[in-house]
Amino acid sequence: MISKKLEVEVVEYSFEELDKTLQHLVNVAKENTKKSYAPYSNYSVGAALLLENGQVISGSNQENAAYPSGLCAERTAVFYANAMYPDVTPKVLAIAAFYGGKFIEEPISPCGSCRQVLLETETRYKQDLQILLYGENRIYLIPSIKQLLPLAFNEQNLKK
Ligand code: THU
Repeated sequence: MISKKLEVEVVEYSFEELDKTLQHLVNVAKENTKKSYAPYSNYSVGAALLLENGQVISGSNQENAAYPSGLCAERTAVFYANAMYPDVTPKVLAIAAFYGGKFIEEPISPCGSCRQVLLETETRYKQDLQILLYGENRIYLIPSIKQLLPLAFNEQNLKK
């Protein structure tokens, strides 16, 4: 038996340490929490996706009385971008959450389904997608979704 430890690379920033582009992206993600439709969880998530052409795509979670029919903020942003601008590569995704009357203190953690979709996006555009996870106490910058989804199922598994 061999026991293996898989390391995850995360860079911690304060808001002031981010460059202006990333600060703007975080601010848009925070702003987009206001567009969330979350009457069931009251957990309002905002996303902001920077494309290679400088355009910023907004997303927010959209819930449904039939719970599984809702969609997370990350996927609304990514699917909108891919549907509208399929030829433009996504570069950076910022995510923030507002819950209990304030922005969450520790960096938001994307769900497994979103991680899988973000991995597909990286694969599709052959380009790492940086991810900014906002928390009031700290911000994590993840250089690639591969860091958040080790041992992922991907297109390689479907090769004959
Ligand atoms: N949610 C997101 O939109 N993104 C995340 O990263 C975590 C969870 C949403 C799904 C649901 O509408 C609510 O937050 C509570 O789970």
